[in-house]
Amino acid sequence: MDGTLTQNDLSHVVEADKAHVWHHLVQHKAFETTDPRIIVEGKGMRVWDQHGREALDAVSGAVWTVNVGYGRKTIVDAISEQLLKLNYFAGALGSVPGALFAEKLIEKMPGMSRVYYTNSGSEANEKAFKMVRQIAHKRYGGKKHKILYRERDYHGTTIGALSAGGQLERNAQYGPFAPGFVEVPHCLEYRAQWDLTGEAYGKRAADAIEEVILREGPDTVGAICLEPVTAGGGVIVPPPGYWERVQEICRKYDVLLHIDEVVCGVGRTGTWFGYQHYGIEPDFVTMAKGVASGYAAIACCVTSERVFDLFKDDASDPMNYFRDISTFGGCTAGPAAALENMRIIEDEGLLDNTTAMGDYMIDRLSELKDKHAVIGDVRGKGLFLGAELVADRATKEPVSEKEVGAVVAGCNAAGVIIGATNRSVPGLNNTLCFAPALIATKDDIDQIVDAVDQSLTKVFA
Ligand SMILES: Cc1ncc(COP(=O)(O)O)c(C=O)c1O
Repeated sequence: MDGTLTQNDLSHVVEADKAHVWHHLVQHKAFETTDPRIIVEGKGMRVWDQHGREALDAVSGAVWTVNVGYGRKTIVDAISEQLLKLNYFAGALGSVPGALFAEKLIEKMPGMSRVYYTNSGSEANEKAFKMVRQIAHKRYGGKKHKILYRERDYHGTTIGALSAGGQLERNAQYGPFAPGFVEVPHCLEYRAQWDLTGEAYGKRAADAIEEVILREGPDTVGAICLEPVTAGGGVIVPPPGYWERVQEICRKYDVLLHIDEVVCGVGRTGTWFGYQHYGIEPDFVTMAKGVASGYAAIACCVTSERVFDLFKDDASDPMNYFRDISTFGGCTAGPAAALENMRIIEDEGLLDNTTAMGDYMIDRLSELKDKHAVIGDVRGKGLFLGAELVADRATKEPVSEKEVGAVVAGCNAAGVIIGATNRSVPGLNNTLCFAPALIATKDDIDQIVDAVDQSLTKVFA
């Protein structure tokens, strides 16, 4: 830590935070007797708090965002040069970084063609939902308006996005929700719903989507929104056979495929986008967190040209365009940062590093599974990984949230910040989550896994 803030300044910061900041995802009663942790500085994979305590960040800013790591001066420079030149103009007109980042992004997404800018993952998803609804009105008399979502997936915090939320604890107490959103079953084989394995399981889980479409009526279903790898719902990598069948079903019933890449997008799983592991062709791809690694707020709703064309086929109709407003979609810091973020990933070979380090980490976590009976399942793709903790491997009874919290706290005490599923699926907030920056080295991974090893030993000895 460079020590620019004195201990006095920092004490004031803590008091100001305690008095006035409402933190996300935190029960505040504890701050009546303890201080909040303030992260003061970051460099590479590491952060420092108000006490100067260093930690290895194994979750890229807690919510899987800082893909290229902290302290990237070239991103800061790109932002500051752009802000001095032009900080903002609303998106009805163009901007230099907006055009250039769109071009660069589309290069990485064969089959896709248009980028709609916004500023959070939730909003990017809302844009896609609105497009689906508008297409239903324009082409199907409003009938083909239903949007399917999957149990255990999450698509954002706004009421519209929560209406597509498959995590009961995220949604609880925030209803009523928007109509026209319909759930399909999750595809986690470890918590199997069908007595099948591998590819047969994957196909069966996808067939469950067809069953829902047939039950609802194919002429009422406009789209399905899916995470490529379910993130906060338990790090769920769909089984083999799943995606191919999903694509077939979408084509068969003319259901638009919306892939929510808010977490997996821009390198997290070792490809530019998670869906690219599976050779599928989406109609919508939404992304946010890693797009500019948190250096600026930016999210994108990317569509195929086929979708885009539906909004410009009749220019004589004054209602025939996407009548959405995105004030902060006109901020230029986001695309300026995103361009430089993408350059770094390319020039430093971070996709390859993500694949190599992801493979290494899953091997190391699997070794831990051999050592600790409490690890029931290890899963993930690239540098997005999870370890599900169970009290009994045979019954798969989850460990308590208190125990999961103790494991996370134990890692914290050892100087490693890890995550865990949190207020997500009732009774199943039992998966440790890891999403280190894409620059992680073997030494970093070893430090993370060793901290987990020691913490598991302490909590479950
Ligand atoms: C898969 C997924 N989609 C959407 C969102 C919402 O993104 P945001 O918090 O930027 O609105 C999240 C947030 O964690 C997410 O995990």
